[in-house]
Amino acid sequence: MSVISGKKVLLGVTAGIAAYKSAYLVRLLVKKGAEVRVVMTPSAKDFVTPLTLSTLSKNEVFSSFVDEENENAQWNNHVALGLWADLFLIAPATANTLSKMAQGNSDNLLIATYLSAKCPVYFAPAMDLDMYQHPSTLKTFEILQSFGNTIIPATHGELASGLVGQGRMAEPEDIIAFLEEDIARKLPLKGKKFLITAGPTYEAIDPVRFIGNHSSGKMGYAIAEESARLGAEVVLISGPTSLSLHNESIRKISVTSAQEMYEQAKHYFVSCDVAILSAAVADYRPKQVAVQKIKKMTTGLTLELEKTPDILASLGVEKQDQFLVGFALETENELENAKTKLKKKNLDLIVLNSLNDEGVGFGADTNKVTLIDASNKTYPFGVKEKGDVAKDIIQIIIEKIHA
Ligand code: C5P
Repeated sequence: MSVISGKKVLLGVTAGIAAYKSAYLVRLLVKKGAEVRVVMTPSAKDFVTPLTLSTLSKNEVFSSFVDEENENAQWNNHVALGLWADLFLIAPATANTLSKMAQGNSDNLLIATYLSAKCPVYFAPAMDLDMYQHPSTLKTFEILQSFGNTIIPATHGELASGLVGQGRMAEPEDIIAFLEEDIARKLPLKGKKFLITAGPTYEAIDPVRFIGNHSSGKMGYAIAEESARLGAEVVLISGPTSLSLHNESIRKISVTSAQEMYEQAKHYFVSCDVAILSAAVADYRPKQVAVQKIKKMTTGLTLELEKTPDILASLGVEKQDQFLVGFALETENELENAKTKLKKKNLDLIVLNSLNDEGVGFGADTNKVTLIDASNKTYPFGVKEKGDVAKDIIQIIIEKIHA
């Protein structure tokens, strides 16, 4: 899956011959799973039609503050457009537009939007070779980069003027590859190794029966997806679930029992940076596992149970520099019990699941959590989709590990 997938990409098109390539750029961005909107300078419309770009992006294309042809036209809100974007790509970017961006000019919708945008900005210059080398243009590149904008350098080759040199806009495929590489490199969890446990464990009674629980694994899987999306290298140790993963980079290790989960968790814990133990591990298992299926008896059946290893507690003992996160599901004295567990198991963060709210918990798609850190600071959240809960949890972890 591309790092561009799901991103809101604003494409700025300016008046250069290379604007004919922006249609292909929109197509590629859409194919990568981005939601694309296009903003053009008025003169860019002489090079490529808004109709082409709106058809490909499936969104209206904006090029002026008001639509002159429509007498009931409303003001095109550059502020909303700038704030909407996760990423602003200006391609082709002419010398004229770039110099205006560097100076803070705002006499057209595209550059006014640039001033409002808070997201990362990339620009792919396209101009003749002498313009590209002019000290004024080089100064403009420098100023824009000092603002935190990223240049996608022009390439060498034949130019519209017939001259040969540097100034051709990078090819659309190369622009996309540049964006993907740059975004991946800057992800907040790049280079971090995450160990996540999820799902229930099944403790065998005999070859066909087990003791288990109703955990769906949804919360742990959502945490694994979110960590990977933000660049972490993820090992997911999963008990039996019916879930599948979207992000192919996640390494899933399937286990059945608490003992198997314990062994795998211990193995991967040594080299991880963050461990999040969200699995609903069975606390007890049958002391003896019958080799043959236990026959139905006329009287009752008594099973002797023994404790399973407490994976979280044992990782807490082994902990060196790892950031260790546990879950707590409490029914009474929730906060106090969670705080006690945090200390007792030597955790850095605990996620308290509230069972006292509707639509949350095992099997549900929503959850309501309160996070508590090692200094007892609490972070309460409302009822949310498990994907959004995962985002909240990972955001707090990022703050803590980068602090
Ligand atoms: O102590 P309690 O079982 O309530 O703690 C829950 C937390 O401990 C969860 O993070 C769960 O994944 C973990 N746990 C574990 N091994 C067990 C039992 C629970 O890792 N045997």
